[in-house]
Amino acid sequence: MKRVHAIVSVLVVTMVATSAYSQIIPGDSTSYPSVGIVNSPHNLNNYPGVTVPGNRVCMPCHTPHNAVLSGEAGVLWNHAETQETFTMYSSTAGQPEAPSKLCLSCHDGVTAIDNYGGVTSTGIVITGDANLGTDLSNDHPIGIVYPTSNPTEFNDPTGFSPGIGGGPGVQLVTINGVDRVECTSCHQVHNNGLGSFLRVPIQESFLCMECHNK
Ligand code: HEC
Ligand code: HEC
Ligand code: HEC
Ligand code: HEC
Repeated sequence: MKRVHAIVSVLVVTMVATSAYSQIIPGDSTSYPSVGIVNSPHNLNNYPGVTVPGNRVCMPCHTPHNAVLSGEAGVLWNHAETQETFTMYSSTAGQPEAPSKLCLSCHDGVTAIDNYGGVTSTGIVITGDANLGTDLSNDHPIGIVYPTSNPTEFNDPTGFSPGIGGGPGVQLVTINGVDRVECTSCHQVHNNGLGSFLRVPIQESFLCMECHNK
């Protein structure tokens, strides 16, 4: 009975701590709600002034044929790529590559969000908080090598917990054979169930402590 009580009180504490999101239990991916592209800010039809013909929600980012960037991150990319030069958090990080560059092709606040294959862009750019701008020095570092060899500060990536939709949680992105932190380490561009397209909950700073041994 004692053991049952202990389990119940842990549950109660967890529920109180996350009462605003009562169904989300950090670390238990079956408790993470899913919200697909259509009902998310990544359905560009939800952005004021933008209309995607035929409500083809994937089209601003992907195309089955004649991709603008067929090789880039291997995702049949259909959107204009950012031409900006970015100020990075760390001087050791190179310019954004692969998935991060794809994100910044809208989130730089310069490249029109509806500038994609075969459609004339209206020139609408992201404004407000979702506009990261070209100065990334005040954002969590990206393009950096994950210090797997520093276990006192950084956790072993093989222990990362599963994420939203039962897919990978926090993940490292391998570029030129090196495991790095990129936008998609924390974000799942296709699922907004946790808000901010996060892979695992930010509640209890679970996301941060997947990597940081704090
Ligand atoms: C706002 C842009 C955006 C939209 C809209 C979008 N994607 Fe993606 N997609 C990406 C990016 C960026 C990547 C590469 C990063 C990654 O793999 O997480 C990607 C990767 C993929 C991949 C390969 C990796 C994976 O996750 O399996 C598939 C398949 C995919 N998208 C399918 C789709 C389909 C189908 C739709 C429409 C229902 C869609 N995407 C809508 C941006 C988008
Ligand atoms: C085709 C353009 C486009 C691409 C590519 C794109 N986004 Fe977005 N994203 C948007 C728009 C538009 C919004 C809504 C902005 C707003 O409401 O002000 C948005 C919103 C977001 C938000 C905020 C969601 C919320 O809950 O408010 C996050 C986080 C985000 N994007 C991350 C990413 C990441 C990470 C990538 C790359 C893997 C990416 N995006 C690629 C267009 C894009
Ligand atoms: C280390 C994890 C991490 C990385 C890497 C990361 N983000 Fe985020 N991002 C977050 C978290 C956490 C939030 C939610 C912040 C909040 O709710 O206060 C967020 C929020 C956002 C938002 C919404 C901003 C807002 O205030 O509405 C956008 C857009 C975004 N990220 C895009 C990106 C892009 C693009 C990259 C790569 C250049 C990136 N993120 C890299 C963790 C990360
Ligand atoms: C995917 C793994 C990962 C995740 C998730 C992550 N970080 Fe980091 N973080 C890193 C790495 C790697 C560095 C760079 C360390 C270095 O190069 O010294 C870093 C750097 C930082 C720094 C700067 C340290 C410095 O010395 O400049 C802060 C602060 C930080 N992270 C906070 C956070 C917070 C807050 C979150 C959650 C919102 C978070 N991180 C999520 C991997 C991660």
